[in-house]
Amino acid sequence: MTAPLPRLVILISGTGSNMATLIDAVRSGALGAEVAAVFSNRPDARGLATAREAGIATEVIDHRAFPDRESFDRALAGRIDAHTPDLVILAGFMRILTPGFVRHYRGRLMNIHPSLLPKYPGLNTHQRAIDAGDDEAGATVHFVTEELDGGPAIVQGRVPIVDGDTAESLATRVLALEHRLYPEAVRLFCSGRLRMDDRGVSLDGEPLPPGGLLLTAGQG
Ligand code: GRF
Repeated sequence: MTAPLPRLVILISGTGSNMATLIDAVRSGALGAEVAAVFSNRPDARGLATAREAGIATEVIDHRAFPDRESFDRALAGRIDAHTPDLVILAGFMRILTPGFVRHYRGRLMNIHPSLLPKYPGLNTHQRAIDAGDDEAGATVHFVTEELDGGPAIVQGRVPIVDGDTAESLATRVLALEHRLYPEAVRLFCSGRLRMDDRGVSLDGEPLPPGGLLLTAGQG
């Protein structure tokens, strides 16, 4: 008898291109996992159709139907847990999550953020990097903790900022990088090699450096 595959639940709010990349990687067998469900807090999220077309169960839990963050997060967690996930993946999920939600999924909740964390947590990361005169930007996959965009990094990738870059041109380049980073982080988690516990994040029992693994050109 073969062991059941780790179960992924993916949360989106919009286009879902990271979600689509993860679905493709699951289908190719590269992640050794299955996608149990895709959730959106927005009924109009474009990624919902993409998930449905891939034959994946989707659910909408509209945050506007709840009086506060706590009640939304409780309802969301209840529905997520019905799918018994091993890993919950935030992929462009544009809601700040309550401490109770984050604690509930501690060590099995990941996010991707379009900056070289700890630089530029929050929004408008690309414009902020350009305005600061940075010569590189990037993206970081990290475990989620109660600190917004502050959880320990798993994998990070860098791209140059070039003359004439706008927030849009930089976002396009970073998004292509994100599509390589997220499957790699999820693959490591699903293989059982990557863990987060009270001592931090480890790969094969060795602590990861503060920025996580650096994904270099040609990998992934
Ligand atoms: C990505 O840039 C991700 O880093 C950020 O939101 C964007 C989502 O894009 N958190 P998509 O919906 O995966 O296309």
